[in-house]
Amino acid sequence: MTPRVRPASVASPLSPLPPAPLSEPPSPATLTARLLAWGQDQGRSLPWRTVDAEGRRDPYRTWVSEIMLQQTQVSTVLPYFERWLTRFPTVEALAAAPPDDALKAWEGLGYYARARHLHRAAQIVVAQQGGHLPRTRAELASLPGIGRSTLGAILSLAFGQRAAVLDGNLKRVLSRVFDVDTPLGQAATEARLWALSEALVMTLDRDDQAGPLNEALMDLGATVCLPRSPACLACPLTGHCLAQARGVQAGRPVRTPRKALPYFDVTCGLIWKGDGRLLIAQRPPHGMLGGLWEFPGGKQEPGESLPECLRREIMEELGIAIEVGEKLTAVQHTYTHLRITLHAFHCRLLHGEPQALGVAAWAWAWPEELAAYAFPVTDLKVIRALQTAISVGPVSWPDDVGARKQPLAQRTPSS
Ligand code: ADE
Repeated sequence: MTPRVRPASVASPLSPLPPAPLSEPPSPATLTARLLAWGQDQGRSLPWRTVDAEGRRDPYRTWVSEIMLQQTQVSTVLPYFERWLTRFPTVEALAAAPPDDALKAWEGLGYYARARHLHRAAQIVVAQQGGHLPRTRAELASLPGIGRSTLGAILSLAFGQRAAVLDGNLKRVLSRVFDVDTPLGQAATEARLWALSEALVMTLDRDDQAGPLNEALMDLGATVCLPRSPACLACPLTGHCLAQARGVQAGRPVRTPRKALPYFDVTCGLIWKGDGRLLIAQRPPHGMLGGLWEFPGGKQEPGESLPECLRREIMEELGIAIEVGEKLTAVQHTYTHLRITLHAFHCRLLHGEPQALGVAAWAWAWPEELAAYAFPVTDLKVIRALQTAISVGPVSWPDDVGARKQPLAQRTPSS
């Protein structure tokens, strides 16, 4: 009987045989050829990948999508991308809009510095580049919000240049294919992964293949080379993946165990003025949630009750005295670096005129006007609880509710 021999490079999904063991790192040229073929066949069709009659992409669409896709999944980005393009169809439209409009369109997407940087970069592009996104590496990299991987993505996808990308999906794919056994986040690991991504791009015959290659790697990471259960049998790189050959793909990339996130109790006040309006404050422009509006408050200090915390924070940030009443709701939230419970209390202004001591700005807003401001997700949940409370009956301070001249739903904003 003739023994069954399977060529090392061909994997059949039906074959019960494991892939032939690889002892050497796979050849970059083989990988790129397979990836390009797979991408053409299996690549995702996504709204930022559309092309014009000449087959070119709109650099503005590519740019917006790449900023939105930083640390964020495609499924989350899709509705934001469509809304953004409707609201700001061109770089000129974005540059002409107030920065608060950009934050409002970004509301809920997180990492708000991205929206602030995108808006500022649009103003630079309009003022200094005639509205054209620059095509050189140095000029593009000088714009706010464009780091090394986003730069590579825009250069390769929008401008057909030979440039490498290294986002989360590529880190996982490359860590597996080349069995990178040192932890992500270490400088040496990151440098090695960048070198691998660049080595792949350098094997291409033509510069304009870098975009399709980068997208194939992104799509492979998002649909096949999944974090928890990689679909190795459906992978175009089966038989060319060192981690799979060694059976260690589940342990790649290597991650250092996460430390427990610090936890804080945070208070915020729904401070009623007496005429039915609420006090809202804008956070300083830089730092966490920079530029967003919120119900003012802050972190509880050791030994302090929640109402004490709230009175102190409001005096420090706005210079006013308040009475703290009933709790409306408590909202839990996990950020990248911390966890909080936000305790929201109805409050009443006792005396004083708000001053912007620790906030960028403040405003008295009717409840139905809140939708015009950009809030963090936590405060959006507080607003939802407030809407529910209003729909059920009088809110915490009966005087305020009695002072309303019309029902909330019928009053026009700013009346
Ligand atoms: N992640 C980052 N850039 C992406 C892109 N262009 N398509 C899909 N996912 C991505």
